[in-house]
Amino acid sequence: MTEPLPNPLTEGLERLPVHPTALVIFGGTGDLARRKLLPALYNLAADGALPERFHLIGVSRSELPDEEFRTQAAAAVKEFSRREADPKVLDALLAEARYISGSFDDEGMYPRLSEALDGFDAASGQQLNRAFYLSTAPEFFPVIVEALGRHDLTAHDGAEVRVIIEKPFGTTLAEAQELNRTVLSVLDESQVFRIDHYLGKETVQNMLAFRFANGMFEPLWNRNYIRNVQITASEDIGIGSRAGYYDHAGALRDLMQNHMMQLLTLLCMEPPVDFSADEIRNEKVKVLHAIQPPEPDRTIRAQYAPGVVAGREVPGYLGENGVPEDSNTETFAAVRLTVQNWRWAGVPFYLRTGKRLSRKVTEIAVTLRPVPHQAFNQEGSVGVQPNQLIFTVQPNEGVTLKLGAKIPGTRMRVRGVNMEFLYGTTFLSQSPEAYEKLIMDAMRGDATLFTRNDEVEAQWRIMDPVVQRWEAAPGPLPQYEAGTAGPAGIEQLLAGDDKWRAI
Ligand code: BG6
Repeated sequence: MTEPLPNPLTEGLERLPVHPTALVIFGGTGDLARRKLLPALYNLAADGALPERFHLIGVSRSELPDEEFRTQAAAAVKEFSRREADPKVLDALLAEARYISGSFDDEGMYPRLSEALDGFDAASGQQLNRAFYLSTAPEFFPVIVEALGRHDLTAHDGAEVRVIIEKPFGTTLAEAQELNRTVLSVLDESQVFRIDHYLGKETVQNMLAFRFANGMFEPLWNRNYIRNVQITASEDIGIGSRAGYYDHAGALRDLMQNHMMQLLTLLCMEPPVDFSADEIRNEKVKVLHAIQPPEPDRTIRAQYAPGVVAGREVPGYLGENGVPEDSNTETFAAVRLTVQNWRWAGVPFYLRTGKRLSRKVTEIAVTLRPVPHQAFNQEGSVGVQPNQLIFTVQPNEGVTLKLGAKIPGTRMRVRGVNMEFLYGTTFLSQSPEAYEKLIMDAMRGDATLFTRNDEVEAQWRIMDPVVQRWEAAPGPLPQYEAGTAGPAGIEQLLAGDDKWRAI
């Protein structure tokens, strides 16, 4: 068989060198590790992107010999990898993987971990960088970080030590501040990588490329031309087996405070001086500082009732396993925000997210102001709609520009048409999973796509008052039928004759 020709369109996709690294996953047998982290590592290995020397250590409570951890990790990769696993690559990735069992608050576990790490250094004849990935229940984040400090694992002569912290980073502003204090009492901010996996998605990063690599949009990117912005993160799935987590979180904390606020800041930020982590994050934080917590009449919440999703009958939220029958946790949240600065004053930003809606779609839709004067005759004007620019994060990642165009024929009639850029067809390659990009960036020490301490607190400052208000308010919550576009009445949030986009 002849070798396939290189794909010229993948030129420029990077393979940056990474210092030899040992990666420790706390919660190495947990759900996130199995579904996302281990498959991401496999795909990085398959792409030749991992450092030449790369070692993996799983840490979890269950007693397992190394061999059993390797077998379980291989099974997880086979089940969840975006590409079929090549046994050679998988074996090489896991051949020397180690497993340390112990609970995260067990002081005796850390010396064993330390010893395993030293063993990898000795075997490779050099000090490896160390990356600790906290993929555990959030109550263990401070426990682990403090233990790393006590056991001298937060620095390593001649090499870097980095700590990657999963979400949720606190469930209130006060908790986030407390966690930041603990983390920064043992680590420097430059060592900390707070994950928001939306930042690893290609289309999310593409918003930056789109805005700052093209001259044509920037002049329009302000209150003079933009009428409103709608950010939608709708999901058709329910809460699955996550009642224990979700019932204490709810839609606002689970997706809006973090992922959706990130989308908003990337869309609104001023052009950074350069693309370094701090320049970008400085600009994002400024946007967050310009947003006030929404007043009660600018927020809506609801819960899903039984319904039909993808042709299947599904229970309502209160009927899900593990959900208390009087739960007031919202599975749908919508808010209207304003960004009070020179660029955005007066432009409404509508955010909505929900579980068990009619389909999965994550998009940012920017609607421009209508043309000032309709010059067509009355009939011809019917199809003239304001331009829209839509970033589709998923599915079908891409960017769509909605324009008005003449319908062929003898009459002058206008209709909306789409100009589309789709990742899949343009780059002829599957986008990597967000976790591949983020694990790689953390190992390289690039914090651009991670949330800084002041940023995560600024996000909470906006959403915390809503969380508190909702928790104090009596139920029951308004319901929406599963499989629909959400609760009735969400039009109330809209200004003037703005309309929600169809889900
Ligand atoms: C997670 C939430 O952060 O994001 C989940 O906890 C949600 O509830 C998920 O389903 C959505 O992520 P994605 O990448 O599927 O859009």
